[in-house]
Amino acid sequence: MAEKPAIAVIGAGLMGAGIALVFAAAGHRVMLFDAIEGARGSALARIRDNLTAIGLDANAASTVTPHGQLAAAVAEADFVIEAAPEDLALKQQLFAEIEAAASPTAILASNTSVIPITSIMEGLRDKTRAVGTHWWNPPYLVPLVEVIRTVESSDAAIEATLALLASVGKTAVEVKRDIPGFIGNRLQHALWREAIALVAAGVCDARTVDDVVKSSFGARLAVLGPLENADLVGTDLTRSIHGYLLPALDRSTVPSPYLDQLVEQGRLGFKSGEGFYSWTAEQQAALRERVTNHLKASFGAPTPTTE
Ligand SMILES: NC(=O)c1ccc[n+]([C@@H]2O[C@H](COP(=O)([O-])OP(=O)(O)OC[C@H]3O[C@@H](n4cnc5c(N)ncnc54)[C@H](O)[C@@H]3O)[C@@H](O)[C@H]2O)c1
Repeated sequence: MAEKPAIAVIGAGLMGAGIALVFAAAGHRVMLFDAIEGARGSALARIRDNLTAIGLDANAASTVTPHGQLAAAVAEADFVIEAAPEDLALKQQLFAEIEAAASPTAILASNTSVIPITSIMEGLRDKTRAVGTHWWNPPYLVPLVEVIRTVESSDAAIEATLALLASVGKTAVEVKRDIPGFIGNRLQHALWREAIALVAAGVCDARTVDDVVKSSFGARLAVLGPLENADLVGTDLTRSIHGYLLPALDRSTVPSPYLDQLVEQGRLGFKSGEGFYSWTAEQQAALRERVTNHLKASFGAPTPTTE
């Protein structure tokens, strides 16, 4: 059997270490680069702990090699995924170094959350092999990866990326235009904008918004997508509802003043202990555990090591 593609992951933080785990669990060789020694040094232990937590063999981490030199990490890679901090200049610099050191046939991907892939890749000599791969946290439990096509991405690069991700058990979808927020974050933040507007207008409090979502359409969403739902109720009814409702929905094009106020007051959420809600350390841990358990029960672990 042909050897599996070798993967270089740039940035060994939350996402990079998680992405490395997915490929290691599927038997790929993974070179994991981080510029910060502490992040590099702790990566293998974090990957082993997370493998165990999702019921896989911690020894799968043995195919992951941490690197302190970018050029060495990418030299033998067939596929490079960048998961460094969300900073355009940093990502552009990294891709210049990656292009100089990687094989000319390697596919180059960024895991940016919101920066256009076209901007990140604008300095590359060969942009045909550059794509976006937008993973979700935690990468080893959430199945989706959005594969973003720029106007210069080749069909071959997009197809190879989709196939590679599918081979490690991901639900890989193509985003045919390099637009802000891709697909998932556009949908997610359209909902958050309205949720914040409802609280800001005094219609209800934050708890009520979250209760409404979790006890109604939120509970159906994993098995009933919005457009399946539109068909289920009828496109005619959907059009009628939109005729009445859309003029009344929030259409702000800037962050809500309510959100500005939270940030200015230092109410930053978990990291300050207060945001829309107050959070003790125990409450934060309990919520994280609830989410992880739900994702594990819904999706299980990624493809286990087979060879
Ligand atoms: N956290 C999420 O839920 C999420 C989801 C999807 C995409 N993303 C995107 O993934 C990327 C990484 O996010 P994260 O949450 O893993 O951040 P993180 O802070 O956990 O990890 C970033 C890592 O990059 C390392 N780093 C710093 N400078 C570097 C350099 N010059 N070269 C290589 N590595 C360097 C840091 O040491 C750190 O380990 C960002 O672009 C982010 O927007 C994050």
